[in-house]
Amino acid sequence: MLNIGILGCGRIGHVHARSLQMVDGARVVAVADAFVEAANALASGVGAKAMTADEIIASPDIDAVVIGTPTDTHFDLIQSSAKAGKAIFCEKPVDMSADRIRECIKTVEAAGVPFLTGFNRRFDPGFAAVHARIAAGEIGDVELVTILSRDPSPPPVSYIKSSGGLFRDMMIHDFDMARFLLGEDVVRVYATGSALVDPAIGEAGDVDTAVAVLTTASGKICQISNSRRATYGYDQRAEVHGSRGLIRAENVRENNVEIANGAGFRSAPAQHFFLERYAGAYLAEMMHFIDCLASGRAPSPGIRDGLAAQVIADAAARSLATGIVVELG
Ligand SMILES: NC(=O)c1ccc[n+]([C@@H]2O[C@H](COP(=O)([O-])OP(=O)(O)OC[C@H]3O[C@@H](n4cnc5c(N)ncnc54)[C@H](O)[C@@H]3O)[C@@H](O)[C@H]2O)c1
Repeated sequence: MLNIGILGCGRIGHVHARSLQMVDGARVVAVADAFVEAANALASGVGAKAMTADEIIASPDIDAVVIGTPTDTHFDLIQSSAKAGKAIFCEKPVDMSADRIRECIKTVEAAGVPFLTGFNRRFDPGFAAVHARIAAGEIGDVELVTILSRDPSPPPVSYIKSSGGLFRDMMIHDFDMARFLLGEDVVRVYATGSALVDPAIGEAGDVDTAVAVLTTASGKICQISNSRRATYGYDQRAEVHGSRGLIRAENVRENNVEIANGAGFRSAPAQHFFLERYAGAYLAEMMHFIDCLASGRAPSPGIRDGLAAQVIADAAARSLATGIVVELG
């Protein structure tokens, strides 16, 4: 039985603690939060002990940590957890700075500890099936990838100010999905964006509506469309066009009822947001992590995938600021 410590008892910490209750071969033994009340609440909910993050990392009885604290705390927790020999599940983004992620890679690889970056969308049944069927050759060679990703409504401007911007906070998931579906590294990035949803987001120096175009060395192209607003629910779709056909994953709706009358066909909105839409993906992601620890396989996506997505996000931010196409080294 693997003993797991959860660091951060907020939104995503609760999701991962609940997933672990459903996964064989692992249990949550300890949780930590900067706010003791938050740690106590989750600890009593899952039958674990509330401890400090330092105590969890130092405990010889704990095999792995799940880092679900705010992004600016990931670096220190990764460094100390890796040095203590803990397996690490770290939420995305690994860090806001590619250089700091490179430092984490050094520490993690020197310690030889397993590391999973929390790009949960790879574990969504729809996107995972698209990936598997491309790998099986069902659409031939991939040529064009289209990713549509739109939140139901924008977060508060206070969040935007510390988020690192749309490319590093939101489109980072799509940059990882682009790499997952393209099957090749990205070499060129162009991005544009506007503040069309909330002018205050523009005043805070960010955009809420954006498009990025990514190109690989062999010329495969991916276009990503993001908005902080979608009136019909959380819009999460992908289409891949290949030499022998296309494959796409559509939105998951609140229910599968359709009504038809003289005005046409109507069905339910897309599931509201990430907690609903990706509930199954978070569970599958945790099952993969625990399975890797039990079997000795390396978790995927790993820390280098976290870096690759961050490098693309940085390039997109630079392209938006300068209006030029950014070549990746
Ligand atoms: N993969 C996904 O779909 C997904 C979804 C949401 C959030 N995230 C990521 O998860 C991380 C947390 O996001 P959230 O929405 O759960 O935030 P949150 O604010 O809801 O929760 C974070 C918790 O961490 C606690 N905390 C802060 N500093 C700490 C420290 N040093 N030690 C222990 N606890 C500390 C806070 O008190 C808070 O309870 C972020 O990196 C975010 O980008 C990923």
